[in-house]
Amino acid sequence: MHLVQAKELYRVLALSSEIHDKDIVDHLQGVQKLTEKFMAILKQSKKYKLTEEYVNEIVLCSVLHDIGKSGIPESILYKPGPLSFFERKIMEMHPLIGVDILLKISKEIPNGFVKDWETAINVIRYHHEKWDGTGYPMGLKREQIPLEARIIAIVDVYDALIRKRSYKNSWTTTEAIAYLVDNKGIHFDPYLVEIFIEKVLKDSKKEQNNTVILEFPNEYIISRPSTLKK
Ligand SMILES: [Fe+2]
Ligand SMILES: [Fe+2]
Repeated sequence: MHLVQAKELYRVLALSSEIHDKDIVDHLQGVQKLTEKFMAILKQSKKYKLTEEYVNEIVLCSVLHDIGKSGIPESILYKPGPLSFFERKIMEMHPLIGVDILLKISKEIPNGFVKDWETAINVIRYHHEKWDGTGYPMGLKREQIPLEARIIAIVDVYDALIRKRSYKNSWTTTEAIAYLVDNKGIHFDPYLVEIFIEKVLKDSKKEQNNTVILEFPNEYIISRPSTLKK
């Protein structure tokens, strides 16, 4: 698969599914940029021994994670207040709707253009699973959750937190990092979240400012807004 063509294909798929949301473009680009930085670090890790092809595939398909939201009514997607029980249940169907969409689309793509859809399917289906098994749609735990989905889960939540959406205000980077720390080993893979904070976020902050300014005070308490639909 040619990288440039594949990037364009995935971008078009992602945007055609979510084009009704103008904010989503920034979020998808943000997720892809952060995933690229994250994967550049993880590529060097002896623990995972990741192939170049797998690393590229995760970066490419990170834009597809919420493709299933195209099947969710806008009245639920952009509801400014908290979701009701049933609205939340509908919202939680978006990973499976996404897989369904991808499987249908993949039949239309010429054979051999995308070698394997497995990474994309795993990202879409499992990006809301949680390390402690309380996520959806399958309630998978720890390493049962494919690595690519554990990676995107961290990046997706972080990028969503720092952006303003119709249903939430933006969080500061310090608040978002504190949220990741608080949820290490609960929502997120503890090892991966550590690398993301130390190597991706702190180091890029260092590059920008030439000095480390992020701290994680223990007494820092963040209450998660009930309107946060992540
Ligand atoms: Fe999602
Ligand atoms: Fe997202």
